[in-house]
Amino acid sequence: MDRLVIDDLELKGKRVLTRVDFNVPIADGKVGDDTRIRAALPTINKVISDGGRLILMSHLGRPKGKPDSKFSLKPVAEHLAGLLEKPVVMAADCVGDSVEKQVSKLQDGEVLLLENVRFHKEETSNEPEFAKQLADHGEVFINDAFGTAHRAHASTVGVAKILKEAAAGYLLQSEVETLTKMLESPEKPYVVILGGAKVADKLQVIRNIITKVSAILVGGGMAYTFLKARGTEIGDSLLDDNSIATAHNAMVVADNPHPEKRLDFVLPLDHTVASSPKAPDFQTSPNGGIASGAMGVDIGPKTIAAFREKILTAKSIFWNGPMGIFENENFATGTIEVAKAVAEATGNGAFSVIGGGDSVAALEKAGVKESISHVSTGGGASLEFMAGIDLPGINALSKAKKKPEVAAQ
Ligand code: 3PG
Repeated sequence: MDRLVIDDLELKGKRVLTRVDFNVPIADGKVGDDTRIRAALPTINKVISDGGRLILMSHLGRPKGKPDSKFSLKPVAEHLAGLLEKPVVMAADCVGDSVEKQVSKLQDGEVLLLENVRFHKEETSNEPEFAKQLADHGEVFINDAFGTAHRAHASTVGVAKILKEAAAGYLLQSEVETLTKMLESPEKPYVVILGGAKVADKLQVIRNIITKVSAILVGGGMAYTFLKARGTEIGDSLLDDNSIATAHNAMVVADNPHPEKRLDFVLPLDHTVASSPKAPDFQTSPNGGIASGAMGVDIGPKTIAAFREKILTAKSIFWNGPMGIFENENFATGTIEVAKAVAEATGNGAFSVIGGGDSVAALEKAGVKESISHVSTGGGASLEFMAGIDLPGINALSKAKKKPEVAAQ
């Protein structure tokens, strides 16, 4: 990447302020899924083993700009200490005199975790004075919070602009390199699977990749807007009226008269339908249309078979978003079957990248998470990256130093 990276930094004896994304599920005072914490360990261990004085900062959830014990990072400090097998000191706040004292007492290789930066409303509004107080804790800055790289907050962008050296950690670096490969040089056939409810976000991705992919498979809530744009009856299914025209245009581009530029744009061929998202009764609607009084809640068996066939031809796969109302067991089949097909294709040699909380949860439910090439720690961030949007957290990092040219012999 064209930014400074952790390996460019001299860390010994330095106060290393590091933004991580420890926005993890907490239940009964304990960390649930710790994927994001484990994903930051390479960077954390590097700072410790190089003798840096590590000051970690993160947000957790969306507290309303003031302290709220529900969103405390204390359980994360305990969990991290267990993973590192060494103490992690928990600060009571992220700024202020007592935190400054704790920072100044840190010795080489020691770890301090600041309390949730979103306990201050100045974090999300990126107030310069607040960013300065955070930046004062460190001599160098590392951003390893890929999941938050799409947020222009004080702890991501503000501090990066203040400290002279602001570098990407290993996680951020690997996410950027993998997603860049999926955008710029994917091996073909390249199959992109999109689902979930938000049509507008996914349309931006489609626009950015449409000339590079072999097939786009659309399922989940967003599929009904595309079906409507094709003139299919969708009954009471989810519809984004404002996106119909753009969805239509995307399908016209996909249907390019030039055979080499044409790509398969596959919409659901059948559906699981119900009278409401929570209805106990459901059935399969055997063709593309849905009668009024019913709504599509999952892709149907013909669609699962068609998607699976395409997925198994792929050499590269990107997937974001569930194929149905996945939270309801009855409507999770499509998403789980897609997860299994992606894992099978990966076993056959395809390179697969998956982002988004629901798709990742489906991998876990299907027991295939370990079979995927790259599971992104950023849902919104990976989607914006694939849409070609510059992520502010990355943009704010220092530019990479030019490598000295080797003189000709
Ligand atoms: C995430 O979980 O997607 C990131 O941690 C960002 O969280 P946010 O959407 O609350 O900014």
